[in-house]
Amino acid sequence: RKRIAIFASGSGSNFQAIVDAQRRGEIDAEIALLVCDKPQAKVVERAEQAGVKAFTFRPKDYPSREAYEAMLVQVLEEHRIDLIVLAGYMRLITRVLLEPYEGRIINIHPSLLPSFPGVEGIGDAYRYGVKVTGVTVHYVDDGMDTGPIIAQVPVSIEPQDTLETLAEKIHAAEHALYPKVIQWICEGRVRLDGRRVLIDGLS
Ligand code: GAR
Repeated sequence: RKRIAIFASGSGSNFQAIVDAQRRGEIDAEIALLVCDKPQAKVVERAEQAGVKAFTFRPKDYPSREAYEAMLVQVLEEHRIDLIVLAGYMRLITRVLLEPYEGRIINIHPSLLPSFPGVEGIGDAYRYGVKVTGVTVHYVDDGMDTGPIIAQVPVSIEPQDTLETLAEKIHAAEHALYPKVIQWICEGRVRLDGRRVLIDGLS
C-alpha cells in the first residue's frame, strides 16, 4: 500500500474529501501525513479529527524555500512517503523537493489549465467571463501549474452564477475528482507519454 502525504495550507476541504474516500474504501492507500505551512489553518484541526498525523512548519523560520524543503524531504523520508498530494498548498515547489519525488507529486487546480493558473483560478475565470471552467489534476513540475495533465472536468458558468455559487460547484467537482485520480495512481494505471498522461482502462 502506498503511503500518501497531503500538503495543504487552508481550509482542507480536499484533504477531507480524500480522507473520507479512503475511509469508505475508495482509495487503497494510507493517508500517512498532513504537511501544512500554516499552523493555524483549519486543515490541521481536520487532521486531528481524522487521526491523521499533522506536521506543521513556518516558512519564515527558514532562510530559504530550499532550506525548508530539505527539512520536508527528511520528514517525508522518515514517514516513508510514496506519493505527495498537493491540496491547496499555496507555495511553489523547488528542485529540492521535486528531484527526490520526481513523478510522484500531484496537484489540483480550480480551472481548466493552461487557462487561469495561479492563486485565483476560480475568480480569474469568473471575471474573464468564460462560459466553461473546471478542475485540473496534474503532475507537479517546477513551473506554476504547468505539469502534465492527468484529468480535467468541466464546470459550466451560468448567467445566474455568482463567484460564490461557482466556487461551490468547483469544490464539489474537486472533491469528486481528486480521490478518483489518487486511486488510479495507487492502482498503477497512470503513465506518462511525453507530456501526455495515459490512464490504463480508461478510453
Ligand atoms: C482548492 O480549490 C484548490 O484547487 C486550490 O485551493 C483550494 C483549496 O481548498 N488550489 C490552488 O488554487 C492552487 N493554485 P481546500 O483547502 O478547501 O482544499
